[in-house]
Amino acid sequence: MEWDRIRKRPDAGAGANLADYDAYAKTFSWEQARALLDGLPGGGLNIASEAVERHVKAGRGDKLALRWIGRDDRIRDFTYATLDAAVNRFANALAQRGIAKGDRIFSLLGRVPELYFAALGTLKNGSVFSPLFSAFGPEPIKARMSIGDARALITTEAFYRRKIEPWRKELAGLKYVFLIECSASLPPDTIDLAAAMAQASDSFETVRTVPEDMALLHFTSGTTGKPKGAVHVHEAVVAHNITGKLVLDLHADDIFWCTADPGWITGTSYGIISPLANGATMIVDQAEFDAERWYRILHDQKVTIWYTAPTAIRMLMKAGADVAKRFDLSNLRLMASVGEPLNPEAVIWGVEAFGKPFHDNWWQTETGGIMISNFLAMDVKPGSMGRPLPGITAGIVEHREGSEVREMTKPMVMGELALRPGWPSMMRAYLNEEARYKKSFVGGWYLTGDLAMRDSDGYYWFVGRADDVIKSSGHLIGPFEVESALMEHKAVAEAGVIGIPEPTAGEVVKAYVALKDGFEPSEALRKELLGHARQRLGPAVAPKDIAFRQNLPKTRSGKIMRRLLKARELGLPEGDISTLESEER
Ligand code: WT7
Repeated sequence: MEWDRIRKRPDAGAGANLADYDAYAKTFSWEQARALLDGLPGGGLNIASEAVERHVKAGRGDKLALRWIGRDDRIRDFTYATLDAAVNRFANALAQRGIAKGDRIFSLLGRVPELYFAALGTLKNGSVFSPLFSAFGPEPIKARMSIGDARALITTEAFYRRKIEPWRKELAGLKYVFLIECSASLPPDTIDLAAAMAQASDSFETVRTVPEDMALLHFTSGTTGKPKGAVHVHEAVVAHNITGKLVLDLHADDIFWCTADPGWITGTSYGIISPLANGATMIVDQAEFDAERWYRILHDQKVTIWYTAPTAIRMLMKAGADVAKRFDLSNLRLMASVGEPLNPEAVIWGVEAFGKPFHDNWWQTETGGIMISNFLAMDVKPGSMGRPLPGITAGIVEHREGSEVREMTKPMVMGELALRPGWPSMMRAYLNEEARYKKSFVGGWYLTGDLAMRDSDGYYWFVGRADDVIKSSGHLIGPFEVESALMEHKAVAEAGVIGIPEPTAGEVVKAYVALKDGFEPSEALRKELLGHARQRLGPAVAPKDIAFRQNLPKTRSGKIMRRLLKARELGLPEGDISTLESEER
């Protein structure tokens, strides 16, 4: 077997939604993709209506939409009809309180059924849904809810008391807090969601939204400044739906498991909207990763399509292929991966453990949906992200601040990965940050911030990030947010935060700290700072390690040179240090 190319499986084209990439790409148009959806009268479009209601209207209400598996293995099943009823109750609970079109509804929840009711009910009400990751600490939550101008929040009582109540008064616009898993004595100014839903009607007329109305607000991070709220509109469902068909090969009889958490965009685009829009059955597991449990779910639920992430695959690899082989996973026909570089060994390990490779694909919060993929009906090149989605023009460009963008057409030349804008799920703005948004578009290209190469077959190869953001277990972390939290500690004068390579998580967050006069480095202080960061940022964002430095390398304009910190950490050449300020004080 040759490992630089895994030949298309003989059965892969048969019955696939995309059987011949080149032929399909030639004739594809977004108009055709739009025509696959029902829409609302008068040119309206609503994500929740496309995902759930239209199946009920078409007589598919009895089909299993969502099977939820609790941490304790308890199962709750929702057909399209019962899911629609719960979604309607949620939408009514919002509408009764005057929560209306355009209002921002945040969630801070684990993978519980209410999260799915909230996401879809919010959209059906014409409001904007913004999911937060439940492992965020109070600071990332507060920053995002204040940028997003939250009107309502759905969370648990425990999260509320620990992560929100202490600062709630500072967010004047946050009028409604709905709680689940709550005690008899509700905290002041909160609403028991179960009670609110119980007394609400289970029918609801979808608020008429049009394709360009704001639907989803997903936060992402840059090198500097606050988190950015990527604005997505109802039209995004056109891309969620078609990428589900073309990349994930979703058919209505599929049992689909996306392991991503809806606190991040993969978990909403592909863990809610895409499988439902395609009328498939989706599996949701409340529990955290566990190799045996995952194989058991794949087997017991007869999962046919599995969308997961490199960190999880590497953890499965650690557990060994023989664990996989103990389970009959013959229902599984497509395995896809996203979110961080998938090393070629992991793709090949898929063949060893499951008899088929993982199909890597690429996208980002800003693109709203999958853009580049190793399609089922295509040879897989281990280590490559694949080829652009039909309808997407990608390129490798050279771009320097203040100069023109130049496309580089020669194979295997490194540059910034760029896309020609204009697909339905492209972000429409960074909320209230026009300048940052505009900076992403140069010379008719959207610049992704990733460095990549394209080979002579048109496959794209990820090289690294062009900026300083960190990818840890597939989660994007902005160094500035971590540095800011550290700087709040009384002992910290300066902080510089980088990602350092780690075999399973890809990267882990490491902080370098210079102390104020009067403080001395010690193991006790190091632990205190780690605890401080963890308490404020939460385990998903906080640094795993902190090192003390007398001074941090800075440019003459005072910016910490994270690249230099990283080069030194890894023993790499220091590169261009002409802007380095003397490190003596
Ligand atoms: C960044 C986007 C994947 C959507 C949800 C996360 C990195 C993503 C791959 C891949 C190498 C990848 C990129 C990208 N990334 N997929 N297949 N190979 N890197 O979206 O949090 O906005 O992250 O994740 O750096 O820009 P996100």
